[in-house]
Amino acid sequence: MTVPAWSQPRVAIVTGGGSGIGEAICHRLSADGAAVAVLDLVGGSAEETAATIGTAGQTAIAVACDVADRASIEAGVTETVERLGRPTILINNAGITPFERFLDISRESFEQVMAVNLRGTFEFCQVVVPHMIEEGWGRIVNISSSSAQTGSFGHTHYSASKAAVIGLTKSLAREFGRKGITVNAIPPSFVETPSLHRAADGGQLGGGIEEHIPSTPVRRVGQPEDIAAACAYLCRDDAGYVTGQVIGVNGGRVIT
Ligand SMILES: NC(=O)c1ccc[n+]([C@@H]2O[C@H](COP(=O)([O-])OP(=O)(O)OC[C@H]3O[C@@H](n4cnc5c(N)ncnc54)[C@H](O)[C@@H]3O)[C@@H](O)[C@H]2O)c1
Repeated sequence: MTVPAWSQPRVAIVTGGGSGIGEAICHRLSADGAAVAVLDLVGGSAEETAATIGTAGQTAIAVACDVADRASIEAGVTETVERLGRPTILINNAGITPFERFLDISRESFEQVMAVNLRGTFEFCQVVVPHMIEEGWGRIVNISSSSAQTGSFGHTHYSASKAAVIGLTKSLAREFGRKGITVNAIPPSFVETPSLHRAADGGQLGGGIEEHIPSTPVRRVGQPEDIAAACAYLCRDDAGYVTGQVIGVNGGRVIT
């Protein structure tokens, strides 16, 4: 017998849903039965994800949205409410991953990384949580990074932003558990997406992606669908006793 993910229709917002991990999460939540708002800075890629979901007979809308801009977040959530209903699932996945040596990082670069990866996550929660409180139910999954757990060469601002996302996740879990809202983080490691290929092409991964497979216990590169599966579990009704957790989906590359 298949247990449905939810006992009633759910609306999910996925940021950065136009590419990579976010795109896979959109597809998975939609396959599980959620109506999905695909939000991305690049409106065209959000359109493509939403169109593919629509072709499969599911409900999705595309919304151009910059998570670094509070007004854009508020407009994206308002559009979601008007077209799909109240969002009670929020996946904060949009992120930027510039590689820069510590002594070369400018104030502007630091602030941009924080604005997208940390403040965007923080403010998206602030705008969506009132809808979850109204519904008495909510699921938030914040996509962090294994670099928050291990550190990452050339990634001090990025790692700091992703570590802060874990602190934010744990604190939100403590504050909103009583409202039926769970908040968890997934810190991926080495997932094959356009961003990982950009890092490889830029020489940031040493000899390339394949070189890292022997040091990965499961002996393969992660796929966006691996992250989407864990994310989908955390969003289910029956994951309601899981909150404030950091769920590593990393092929065993990080074992804490
Ligand atoms: N791929 C990996 O190995 C890996 C490892 C650790 C963490 N992550 C994290 O996973 C998340 C997704 O990464 P990915 O590998 O799929 O990257 P990706 O570059 O393929 O996709 C990121 C998406 O976010 C969007 N985006 C960027 N800035 C935005 C903004 N200001 N507002 C709205 N959307 C914006 C991009 O347009 C893009 O569609 C990121 O938060 C990243 O830090 C990825």
